[in-house]
Amino acid sequence: MKTLLITRPIAEAVIDQARELFDVTVSETGALDEAAAEQALQSYDAILPTLGDLFSAQAFAGAAGNMRCKMLGNFGVGYNHIDVAAAKQAGVLVSNTPDVLTDATADIAMTLILATARRAGEGERLVRSGNWGGFGPKDLLGTHVTGKTVGIVGMGRIGQAIARRCHFGFGMNVVFYNRSAKTVDFPATQLPTLADTMGAADFVVVATPGGAATTHLIDSAALSAMKPSSIFVNISRGEVVDEPALVAALEAGQIAGAGLDVYENEPVVPDALKAMDHCVLLPHLGSATVETRQAMGQMALDNIIAWSNGNAPAQSV
Ligand code: DGY
Repeated sequence: MKTLLITRPIAEAVIDQARELFDVTVSETGALDEAAAEQALQSYDAILPTLGDLFSAQAFAGAAGNMRCKMLGNFGVGYNHIDVAAAKQAGVLVSNTPDVLTDATADIAMTLILATARRAGEGERLVRSGNWGGFGPKDLLGTHVTGKTVGIVGMGRIGQAIARRCHFGFGMNVVFYNRSAKTVDFPATQLPTLADTMGAADFVVVATPGGAATTHLIDSAALSAMKPSSIFVNISRGEVVDEPALVAALEAGQIAGAGLDVYENEPVVPDALKAMDHCVLLPHLGSATVETRQAMGQMALDNIIAWSNGNAPAQSV
């Protein structure tokens, strides 16, 4: 029987199915650092890793010579924690879990847009503090979302799902920035530059993939294109944003607020962000619904089963 390491506990039904086909180890010790990733590559035929497991070029280089693993069936659409070029060179297939988390992640973007615009975090903290004095006509006034302009950075599957919600649900005008020309089946205008998009939007939402091509795409220059009344939302990867530049823009009042689900050095969240009431901060909840996490686990396992049967995984990257 082939050995399979599942690097974090996932839906039990998926683990049960895996146990019928593989000799399964489920790791409960948290994300694999580089040394643990190297060790895992030498010890298992297949691995079902997820965010934070450091399958870096160094991990592959360290495992070389004693490499056992042939398949990384990633749990997650994002795979910036895996050096895919190094994996390919080492003869290791990599797959991911697109589509099944698109709606859940788009919903988290909407949660952040609404929570930031309507000061829901502050309001919730006020109620829990016991200091709420009752309804006040001028208390905790936020900003309207309906009818405003959203600027989507990265019009892939998730960007489009967010744009649809904004357009059809909230009557918003949609503009977007995407590296390649993109035609979508709802009203939306592609703008030529990132700065044009950031500058036109009342709400900027980042939905690009992570990785080297987008690291610090949102830097101080990009943020300086935003209007002081605009809100910045990131549901993609923390590394896409230069976090100190975002903190500086918020502290200087250069932008009106931020809704963040992801951070540059998760799980570390800068104290400066935590100290600011006009930030809504979530702990990487994009795909966190029971249904979505079950579907992600199933897709990751299905890819590993395909590989095990000698077929190409449906979601190879
Ligand atoms: C992914 O799948 O990449 C998500 O970030 C997990 O929520």
